[in-house]
Amino acid sequence: MEGLTVVSLLLSMLMISTSRARYEPTWESIDSRPLPEWYDQAKLGIFIHWGVFSVPSFGSEWFWWYWQKQKLKPYVDFMLRNYPPDFHYQDFASQFTAEFFDAKEWTDIFTSSGAKYIVLTTKHHEGFTLWGSKNSWNWNAVDIGPRRDLVEEVASALRANSDLRLGLYHSLFEWFNPLFEQDAANVFTTNYFPTSKTLPELYELILKYKPEVLWSDGDGNAPDKYWNSTGFLAWLYNDSPVRDTVVTNDRWGSGCICTHGGYYTCDDRYQPGHLLKHKWENCMTIDSKSWGYRREAPLSDYLTTKQLVATLVETVSCGGNLLINVGPTHDGRIAPIFEERLRQMGQWMKVNGEAIYNTTAWRAQNDSVTPHVWYTSRPKEKSIFAILLEWPSNGSVILNEPVVKQGQTQVGLLGYGPLKWEPAKPSGLQVVLPQLSFSQMPCQWAWTLKLTGAS
Ligand SMILES: *[C@@H]1O[C@H](CO)[C@@H](O)[C@H](O)[C@H]1NC(C)=O
Ligand SMILES: *[C@@H]1O[C@H](CO)[C@@H](O)[C@H](O)[C@H]1NC(C)=O
Ligand SMILES: *[C@@H]1O[C@H](CO)[C@@H](O)[C@H](O)[C@H]1NC(C)=O
Ligand SMILES: *[C@@H]1O[C@H](CO)[C@@H](O)[C@H](O)[C@H]1NC(C)=O
Repeated sequence: MEGLTVVSLLLSMLMISTSRARYEPTWESIDSRPLPEWYDQAKLGIFIHWGVFSVPSFGSEWFWWYWQKQKLKPYVDFMLRNYPPDFHYQDFASQFTAEFFDAKEWTDIFTSSGAKYIVLTTKHHEGFTLWGSKNSWNWNAVDIGPRRDLVEEVASALRANSDLRLGLYHSLFEWFNPLFEQDAANVFTTNYFPTSKTLPELYELILKYKPEVLWSDGDGNAPDKYWNSTGFLAWLYNDSPVRDTVVTNDRWGSGCICTHGGYYTCDDRYQPGHLLKHKWENCMTIDSKSWGYRREAPLSDYLTTKQLVATLVETVSCGGNLLINVGPTHDGRIAPIFEERLRQMGQWMKVNGEAIYNTTAWRAQNDSVTPHVWYTSRPKEKSIFAILLEWPSNGSVILNEPVVKQGQTQVGLLGYGPLKWEPAKPSGLQVVLPQLSFSQMPCQWAWTLKLTGAS
């Protein structure tokens, strides 16, 4: 008996000493959690905005708000011209058919882009859930519209066919939910909405789909105390099934953005242009005017592959991840324009991935002499990468930042081979580029010089 007691005492001491530190429901404690390593290594993710707004697919995913709350003329006119007078936004839900939706095809497209994670809108501000939420009766993709659990299909296909990590977007507030409106009228001194809607949904999403990114949005100008964000995050980090690998962003209540949570988003299309100490993400969209699919978008509104590559390079140089958005159609397709952009990103990444994945920001982000040159590094391998967003028309390029040594420094063009270089005055080096025809180039859009034996 006594021996057993000693053994169990030792065992429990061992368990205490090896058990993880528990996070408290305070920002000080939540913010002290180190970001799981995989996220910074991944660099590129795909954002997917899909919902009932994909049915009108006009203007913006904010369609309902702009039409009925702000009453913006283009939206009001669109409805007058195309729909009967008694048509409600809710009537769009039955037309959200998803008949061509094939999560395996989506996975193939996302994988081909070189992305390492995705973030799917499970519920935007309209409140419609893409899974059969118990807390969203008759306003979810299982009860109406597709009559399928779209979140489940994406999650399963992703895990069965790729090494991409699953991320889920979730809007805290809903524009027109009467419970939220009631709490807002009470200046958020009551919390009917978070306790009966938002928090049950968040727990359900985590337990059911085990996402490794939770992309929170839409604080509705309510403070994090109202949402019980730190209470939820403490559970997420201490006791949830994804506590070791999950990352979250910074949109957890008014005043949180760019200040609290996991990585910072700070704004939509955030691009500081300089290095940030804290990990951040630039979320942006290929259709520069909308996140949801827009049938009326002209070609000129879509960013080119060159613009996307340049954005990725600048973002990664400054310590960020890039989250590129596509808006699927109401019938479940990713339009060929989006598909082409993503596949071309992947072509570029196949040649230049060494300068992107698993890299660290270097001491300089861009060159101080030659414009359109951005740096990344792999300190363990003692490599520096200079990514040229323009091919020098005169056959050579000056890199002012690296410190080089004759007989030691080596320069190569990724996808090609070694290059000649000379020291430049007063510092840096001049690299001679090979004369290549278009079809001889290792890639298009941007080119990487790899430097070893330099500092
Ligand atoms: C906030 O979250 C914590 C942790 O999940 C929970 O214990 C607490 O009851 C929640 N508070 C409210 C007001 O919902
Ligand atoms: C990045 O690091 C991870 C984890 O160490 C590794 O599995 C992966 O192969 C690396 N990728 C590249 C492109 O170096
Ligand atoms: C690049 O570097 C220069 C000098 O270090 C700096 O003034 C400039 O703002 C940087 N950013 C861009 C986008 O060129
Ligand atoms: C050629 O152009 C590059 C910029 O694209 C510049 O860095 C370099 O100094 C130029 N070389 C010569 C010889 O003028």
